[in-house]
Amino acid sequence: PVGWVSVGGTIVVASGPGVGRFLMPNVLVEPPTKIRVGPVEKYLAMAPGEVNEDHKLDGIWMIRLEDRIAALSTTCTHLGCIPTWLEADRKYKCPCHGSGFKQDGINFEGPAPRPLERLKLTNFDGEIVVDKSVKFLQEQGQWDQPDSFLLV
Ligand code: FES
Repeated sequence: PVGWVSVGGTIVVASGPGVGRFLMPNVLVEPPTKIRVGPVEKYLAMAPGEVNEDHKLDGIWMIRLEDRIAALSTTCTHLGCIPTWLEADRKYKCPCHGSGFKQDGINFEGPAPRPLERLKLTNFDGEIVVDKSVKFLQEQGQWDQPDSFLLV
């Protein structure tokens, strides 16, 4: 690559393998926001109240509610730690400051000021794709919005 570089107030032309990078801003590469989480049938087969943790490392819990499937963000709404799903206690428990959330994401103990966020779901040719860049907040009445769930 070839680029213009200012040296001591004089503009000179620089070239070579290092120049392009030198002129680029230092940008972090963001992980993808759209995650394929597998066939719809897999989630339709869940029992109401169940939590699927297959994509926890992607920041997603797939949850089965009474009449729907939703994708829950694994980020604690207090300061961003990752809670643990405790099946026996039926809650997500945050290790950092003790916040607790019900299976559906509602906060009920500890300092978390609001429920976990839900994420956009799309049925794409029989496979569920979760878009982590689109969030639905319970406290803003967004859990009834289309795209925040799939009816079973
Ligand atoms: Fe989860 Fe503080 S970050 S309780």
